[in-house]
Amino acid sequence: MSDVWASWLRERAELRAERGTERFDPVLRLGGHLPGAHGALDLASNDYLGLSRDDRVVAAAHEALDRYGASATASRLVTGTLPVHRDLEAALARLAGQPSALAFSTGYAANLGALTALSGRGAEILLDAHAHASLHDAARMSRVPYATFAHNDPADLDRELATRTGRRVVVAVESIYSVLGDAAPLTDLVEVCRRHDALLVVDEAHGIGVAGKGRGLVHALGLAGAADVVVTMTLSKALGSQGGAVLGSTALRSHLVNTARSFIFDTGLAPAAAGAATAAADVVADEPLLADAVRDNARVIATVCGIERAAGAVQSLPMPSPEAAVAACLNLRAQGVLVGCFRPPSVPDGVSRLRVTARADLPREDLLEAARVVARVAGEHAPRPTGTAAVEGSRAADAPSDVRGLPTVAAVEGATHPASTSPLDQIPPHDTDG
Ligand SMILES: Cc1ncc(COP(=O)(O)O)c(C=O)c1O
Repeated sequence: MSDVWASWLRERAELRAERGTERFDPVLRLGGHLPGAHGALDLASNDYLGLSRDDRVVAAAHEALDRYGASATASRLVTGTLPVHRDLEAALARLAGQPSALAFSTGYAANLGALTALSGRGAEILLDAHAHASLHDAARMSRVPYATFAHNDPADLDRELATRTGRRVVVAVESIYSVLGDAAPLTDLVEVCRRHDALLVVDEAHGIGVAGKGRGLVHALGLAGAADVVVTMTLSKALGSQGGAVLGSTALRSHLVNTARSFIFDTGLAPAAAGAATAAADVVADEPLLADAVRDNARVIATVCGIERAAGAVQSLPMPSPEAAVAACLNLRAQGVLVGCFRPPSVPDGVSRLRVTARADLPREDLLEAARVVARVAGEHAPRPTGTAAVEGSRAADAPSDVRGLPTVAAVEGATHPASTSPLDQIPPHDTDG
């Protein structure tokens, strides 16, 4: 490598070190288990329902592998469409209550495909300010004017849309935001979009498998199947596999098949991933209690840690700096608890956080113990929580404490929770997972 490039790479590395933003990709799991650890717990992955190791899901992956081989071997429009892709798309459509689905090789590619194919000449894109990086990248790649509106603020969206009269506008949001953990006010956003004939694209990456008995927030709010609401999702979080999808009308599907470059110019999803995701989608559709379990466990984490419960599986604890967040993560790792770390540039508001993921398959005692360790270590690195997720004076924070100042099991089990303004709580009681 020439000196120019070597010194540029060195400079970039030094800058990251200075800012405390260096990232690593350590091997933290051996097979399904954490290395050498009895009682070590994974509160970091996106396997919200534990389906990546579910017998039915793994068996379906094996079956697809045996039947179709290791690769789709071509893009979908050449010879890469296999029966397992059809099965997957049917299972996803059934789960989300949508007329049709189109599978992509990742959730990232699904968002790229949806936004680029739905915009085009004469269109504009408006993104929620906290939308995932893949939606921002998709807007950039769409080569149309795009802007952001204030996070979860239908009134601001209304103002932005009013200045774009006569244009085709695509609005993109997430149903549940992974960093702040709040749910989008989808009913209000749809209403605003309808007033302006805008199309709403909702990324259910953190909603599917968790909200609305697992069928996602769009379904829970009665918006599934609406012609002006398009859903995207990843298969790599609650569904425990890999891949992504765009769901909506059959007309939308054929438009994407013909125009979405991240679908057309990409090898079809690997058969094993498609088989696994198909089985996982069926499990989620048939077992709504799984979504309840992950949300119950999220409640436990939030209560023990004294934070407001986020709408999805990911609970975040604000930390005073990226360095404090990293130090707390490493400390927790040393104590056998894996948590994630949100920090700039991945956080839209610049606040670093510990990312603690609830899973449906964790025994309550293990979860409580791990959550207590998280609360204690977070407290050591951030004596007082700061930022948007901190709850001053909540019932959780007022709960009886154990000797370490942490809430007791009884307090956690019996705790009531601060009144929520989440759209999840607008869902009728029979379909409430909040
Ligand atoms: C909101 C959101 N959208 C899209 C993606 C991308 O999904 P995938 O990992 O399948 O590419 C993610 C993954 O982190 C996400 O959080």
